[in-house]
Amino acid sequence: MDLASKVRVIKDFPKPGINFRDITTLLQDAEAFKKTVDALVELCKDMQVDVVACPEARGFVLGAPLAYALGKGVVLLRKPGKLPGRTVCYNYELEYGSDALEVHEGAIQAGQKVLLVDDVLATGGTVAAAVELVKKSGGEVAGIAFLIELLGLGAREKLGDYPVVTLLQLEA
Ligand code: PRP
Ligand code: MG
Repeated sequence: MDLASKVRVIKDFPKPGINFRDITTLLQDAEAFKKTVDALVELCKDMQVDVVACPEARGFVLGAPLAYALGKGVVLLRKPGKLPGRTVCYNYELEYGSDALEVHEGAIQAGQKVLLVDDVLATGGTVAAAVELVKKSGGEVAGIAFLIELLGLGAREKLGDYPVVTLLQLEA
């Protein structure tokens, strides 16, 4: 199955010039969703990780089944004001705007190896914030997985030497 063909492109959303990669069309297709999660598991199964962490919202949809399949717990990196306990926060720039991510204090233990999972790598702002949250929490990023890598936006350069795996590489 050609998973890329299941990703719908919506031009000029949320603002002119952005080709929005809409993964809802892939997620709602049972076979495509299963193949996506299975393929991510295959890419990540040999990584030595203690826990999976994923950013709200679309990261949850892939991070949770991946964590389940790997037999790991899942840590939610949430948008501001959503987590009830004390949090660690990090502000970041997005492909279209700015935002922040938070994680509960203590959700990632000191020294834990963390696998970060998100749907799309665009400018890399979100994953860079996720990396900072892991580091602030005392954890170590052991791997990073995406369904889609958008090429030509310079994100890879921001990720340094972390092991990064991506299922689909698409022109931005
Ligand atoms: C989207 C996408 C990635 C991020 C990629 O999330 O799900 O998390 O942007 O862009 P970047 O590499 O430039 O940071 P968004 O914040 O739009 O919201 P959502 O996941 O809550 O839908
Ligand atoms: Mg997101």
